[in-house]
Amino acid sequence: MNEKERILQLREMLHGYNRDYYVLNRPVISDMEFDGLMRELQELEARHPDMDDPNSPTRRVGSDLSQDFRHVLHKYPMLSLSNTYSEAEVADWYESVKKGLGGEEFEVCCEMKYDGLSISLTYKDGRLVSAVTRGDGVQGDDVTENVKTIRSIPLIIKNEERQEMKNEELRMKNEGLPGSKTDTAAANSSFFILHSSFPNSRSSFPKEFEIRGEILMPWNVFEQLNAEREAAEEPLFANPRNAASGTLKSISSAVVAKRRLDAYLYYMPGDNVPCDGHYENLMTARQWGFKISSGMKKVKTLQEIYDFINYWDTERKNLPVATDGIVLKVNSMRQQRALGYTAKSPRWAIAYKFKAERACTRLDEVTFQVGRTGAVTPVANMEPVQLAGTTVRRATLNNEDFIRSMDLHIGDYVYVEKGGEIIPKIVGVDIDKRPLMAQAVTFAHRCPECGTPLVRYEGEAAYYCPNDTGCPPQIKGRIEHFISRKAMDIDSLGPETVDGFYRQGLIKNFADLYKIDVQQINGDGSRQKSAQKIVDGIEKSKSVPFERVVFALGIRFVGETSAKLLARRFKNMDALMSATEEELMEVDGIGGVMAKSIVGYFADAVNKDIVERLCSYGLQMSLSEEQLSSVSDRLAGKSIVISGVFSRHSRDEYKLLIEQNGGRNVGSISKKTSFILAGENMGPSKLQKAEKLGIPLVDEDGFLKMISDEG
Ligand code: IVH
Repeated sequence: MNEKERILQLREMLHGYNRDYYVLNRPVISDMEFDGLMRELQELEARHPDMDDPNSPTRRVGSDLSQDFRHVLHKYPMLSLSNTYSEAEVADWYESVKKGLGGEEFEVCCEMKYDGLSISLTYKDGRLVSAVTRGDGVQGDDVTENVKTIRSIPLIIKNEERQEMKNEELRMKNEGLPGSKTDTAAANSSFFILHSSFPNSRSSFPKEFEIRGEILMPWNVFEQLNAEREAAEEPLFANPRNAASGTLKSISSAVVAKRRLDAYLYYMPGDNVPCDGHYENLMTARQWGFKISSGMKKVKTLQEIYDFINYWDTERKNLPVATDGIVLKVNSMRQQRALGYTAKSPRWAIAYKFKAERACTRLDEVTFQVGRTGAVTPVANMEPVQLAGTTVRRATLNNEDFIRSMDLHIGDYVYVEKGGEIIPKIVGVDIDKRPLMAQAVTFAHRCPECGTPLVRYEGEAAYYCPNDTGCPPQIKGRIEHFISRKAMDIDSLGPETVDGFYRQGLIKNFADLYKIDVQQINGDGSRQKSAQKIVDGIEKSKSVPFERVVFALGIRFVGETSAKLLARRFKNMDALMSATEEELMEVDGIGGVMAKSIVGYFADAVNKDIVERLCSYGLQMSLSEEQLSSVSDRLAGKSIVISGVFSRHSRDEYKLLIEQNGGRNVGSISKKTSFILAGENMGPSKLQKAEKLGIPLVDEDGFLKMISDEG
């Protein structure tokens, strides 16, 4: 066999092994063998570029090539489902279907409502050619390259039924993700259906077809990802849906590949589907290699629908992915067509949403937490209780008004719910269980950390500790902000070290960081190496550019972008410190609230002293020569959209050039857009919109001329 033949053979083998592992959950070779074959294929493909195949299994690993998602029109709009929350509403729907069909008999397909991100896949000649998100339902983002990394989505499908597919029972038992909770609920349930005698299982797939489903991040992957983000001090994802969505929109498909997303398919739109039954179509799609839920059931009566709902309301907790309800669909496609659609959703389907999970437990104590900005948050400390897979001990109480509206008392039995957020919420109180003489919860009057009387500003719900330069969590919070990646990027320090230094009295503010030496950290002499690393990291930060120093100060309301604007406009710290509110507000993007906050910050003697010390330690207190020479205001007042692919500079470089020349980068085209910096292959919808609004396009060369002296 020559190398080219081996490439074809390896591709075939790897597609099959992928399916065994990710769709059938029944690996037939070891991970090591699999990786070995994949590497062999990668090497051979590198030697034979003429054998390139966009659907090769090697595409599963993704690439770091950044991508601009093209907008694609959906062939059939992606509608949503109308939601119901009670059995009575389900009965109303059932009756309306019966009436709509003039009394004709009908079957209903009951299935899980997966809580992820909907996706529409198009296959041509058995090959995945596009994957598009729902978007606004009419057009979505083309995320094909990212979707190719999802191993349970077949890149190539085959007509012949594979031998292994016949043993349905084994497969269904193994449904669920390897290493995660398995789908035993489905396997043990009376709703678990064996399809081995399915009549259309050999139906061949159409030359071109679409199949839709949900992309999900399994619970175990989600938990691991958040644990990693917590360790890296990155913001956590609120739920697996947000995590899946953030991942799928990642511009690097290599990142997507690492995140181990999964996909269940649940609908085939169009006229060229294999059968008249929706359920039968999905079973056929399963034969082609798609992952189809095993928790599906065809029923006829309302009672059977209720039974299905009740069963899965509890059993869903054993599934490896998030679900938030049940979807009911009239099974016959002919009947679906007869029932048709309203403007927003099909009449032939509805969703029944599960009630959020709720637990009842005792409120033991309310404590108050002071954040970096001085905002004080009340926290309920409760008797630990199990809720939606985790133990809950604490819940946020938002603010004083919330506590009052709940009329909370210590010792109350409270209902806790986990909504879309990680932190559970108290949603009600069982007044009947209130102990005699229970004390009403009152808001703290003094800061629990420094004892300063709290203030509540007009129009705000939160209380603040006004002692911003003397209150420990505010000081520590500001130091943590100062060292963070987007500010001074001192990665040799973390929150725990900062906390330790603060407690030892080594630092009282972030300027103190620059005077600590190895000896001070290395008190007993056992930490020479790590102490040196910390000091080196601090030293290195002295070259961090001026705009990041401005951001690092932690002036209230001044984010990364505003800091850049300020740095470019005032060019050095002295000028910024003496700027008046009016001068600050002249900067495009700086409003009244921010201007006031900046002036207030520099008026405080403690802050002024800190900044002067930073200057004396040698931090960058002005724009660099290079920055100064490249700064112009040639694009002042212009809002610019970048679109397409460029050859002379990267997108990020163009973004920087726009900023350096006083322009603003904006994400989407509107009436206010000044022009579009257009590269090759600009998306058709952007082009259309630009044309419609009469926004000029400027190409790379034109743009570079514009910001050069010639311009
Ligand atoms: S069918 C025309 N089936 O729910 C109806 N949707 O509000 C096409 N979803 O955007 C959708 N599980 O993302 C269907 N088994 C299921 C589903 C499901 C989850 C999502 C889907 C859709 C939303 C509808």
